[in-house]
Amino acid sequence: MAFPTERMRRVRGNAMLRDLVRETSLDAGDLVYPMFVVPGRSVSRPVGSMPGVCQLSVDRAVEEAKEVRDLGIPGIILFGIPPDKDAVGSGAYDPAGIIPQAVRAIREQVSGLLVITDVCLCEYTDHGHCGVLRGEEVDNDRTLELLAREAVAHARAGAHVVAPSDMMDGRVGAIRRALDAEGFESLPILAYAAKYASGFYGPFREAAESTPQFGDRRGYQMDPGNGDEALREVALDLEEGADIVMVKPALPYLDVVRRVKDRFPGVPLAAYNVSGEYAMLQAAIERGWIDGERVTIEILTSIRRAGADFILTYSAKEAARILARRGGRSA
Ligand code: PBG
Repeated sequence: MAFPTERMRRVRGNAMLRDLVRETSLDAGDLVYPMFVVPGRSVSRPVGSMPGVCQLSVDRAVEEAKEVRDLGIPGIILFGIPPDKDAVGSGAYDPAGIIPQAVRAIREQVSGLLVITDVCLCEYTDHGHCGVLRGEEVDNDRTLELLAREAVAHARAGAHVVAPSDMMDGRVGAIRRALDAEGFESLPILAYAAKYASGFYGPFREAAESTPQFGDRRGYQMDPGNGDEALREVALDLEEGADIVMVKPALPYLDVVRRVKDRFPGVPLAAYNVSGEYAMLQAAIERGWIDGERVTIEILTSIRRAGADFILTYSAKEAARILARRGGRSA
């Protein structure tokens, strides 16, 4: 069958029919909002390269968490900036550290919101790398124990999910064993499984004050040229006990999102629409070069279409507002 019998435009020509046959859905319930928590009270410090995003003290983070929940967004992921940094990232696994404080406050004061914590050392080390150093190299195996302690500290404070983002080998297994040993065998791990060494993390490093003081993260994060390797990373994390896997960044790696979904169809898959992707979008919106509402929804829809079950995105609040105005419809 071909033209003139077949006419693709028949279905497209009617907006209601277009909505009815749309393959990919997007709603606020597919989104997770990242937040940056800093010491102090009543602090709300805008992040220059991420318009609309602020570093927040715990009291302000509680307020924003309520706002997020009231927009119908099911979860947040928390990043912490400690009062002091040192070579071994002590603030990361301090049971009274910034993230345990924030988790406790949010769990106490905000119901009906999933609290995920990012598990990594880079925000807590004075050198800005994701683990402890031996010379100028990150020492993989010594870092594992510290990441495990960090995950347990988050779990004890009440985190619903822990999300290791460091890319050390063996960290999912080390965290799983430590959680199990402490009675948290039911606590899920969301593994940043395929995390690329990306220039798109620049604005995040301003927000999290985690820019490496020397070198870069290519020794532990993935080479942007590799796709097959992402499948290996995902397989390894699943073997070690990951419950949900993630591809990061999202837009430059939509092919990877799709390949992971196809290869591991029953595994929940997240994608992280990272800071640089958000900054590019906001810059173009500010200049009036693109239609912000339209492109925000188009981007998130494309990440869902590629195969992500849910998306970590700084656009979550804006997207939820747009979708609510449209009666929940994603087009
Ligand atoms: C910590 C971490 C990073 C991001 C999430 N967790 C930064 C990095 O690896 O340098 C980036 C998130 C974003 O850019 O929005 N390791």
